[in-house]
Amino acid sequence: MADQVERFSPSSGPGSPRVWGIYEPHSGSIQYVCAAADGPDCAIVDAVQHYDVRAGSTSLGPAETLAALVERENLTVRAVIETHPHADHFAAGAALAERYGAPLATGSKVQEVANLWDGFYAQPATDCSQYFDRLLDDGDALEAGTLTFQVMLTPGHTLASLSFICGDAAFVADTFMMPDSGTSRADFPGGSAKALWGSLQRLQELPDTTRVFVGHDYCRGGRAPLWEVTLAEQKRANIHLADGQDRDGFVAARAERDATLALPERMLAALQVNIRGGRLPDADEEGRRHLKIPLNLF
Ligand SMILES: [Fe+2]
Repeated sequence: MADQVERFSPSSGPGSPRVWGIYEPHSGSIQYVCAAADGPDCAIVDAVQHYDVRAGSTSLGPAETLAALVERENLTVRAVIETHPHADHFAAGAALAERYGAPLATGSKVQEVANLWDGFYAQPATDCSQYFDRLLDDGDALEAGTLTFQVMLTPGHTLASLSFICGDAAFVADTFMMPDSGTSRADFPGGSAKALWGSLQRLQELPDTTRVFVGHDYCRGGRAPLWEVTLAEQKRANIHLADGQDRDGFVAARAERDATLALPERMLAALQVNIRGGRLPDADEEGRRHLKIPLNLF
């Protein structure tokens, strides 16, 4: 397993944010801090809480690394963003939003994902508006102090996935992966390869110089973890889009690839936490918390 890696992407001028990425090796996720070109305002994107499947233990360790960076750089957290309800790890958004007194934001369609999973878990309806301060729609703007994030609905990997665009930085979550790895899977409940294709087309309308920050990297061929690439490079070299790929070809290739992938180890545990912004299940009167694992569902 690769180590935790931190890398910095500098501002290229006014309106171009500074971006730090921290690679979380257990899930191959990248946690981000996006800060104003000058000034302390920042937003956190997709912070991770570790869940040890064997021990059943949780730890905010990865998110603490992010919090240490925020402190080291003297930043002020103005918003905490979850791009989508993750299937492969527990989110840490709620914990950090509470710590910093910052709003927790995600896509309004998280409610549809919650409705789906409430059924799978046979649990009472989850009201996502209780757990998120901002439920965003396509075209909305999220203000984070002096930063503004344009919200683009980019479904496919999940039906609720958002991309957040701040100046020349685009946090595209699980749409593009690095060019050598292609795109994210679209076979989870509510996922759609056709919708993912549409989202990839929309993202390609951004300027070619856009810095694309991806949500995951699995270190293809044993290389070091990578997560930043220009949109021009995505268009030129992405293995799932290059060579004149069309929608039907993409959908067929995506379905073929997804059929070979095992479900994420933490998926059944993670959704019940992530439709609540990363809050663990409520404690019982003894202070004990339990996850619910539906059997033979998939
Ligand atoms: Fe994901």
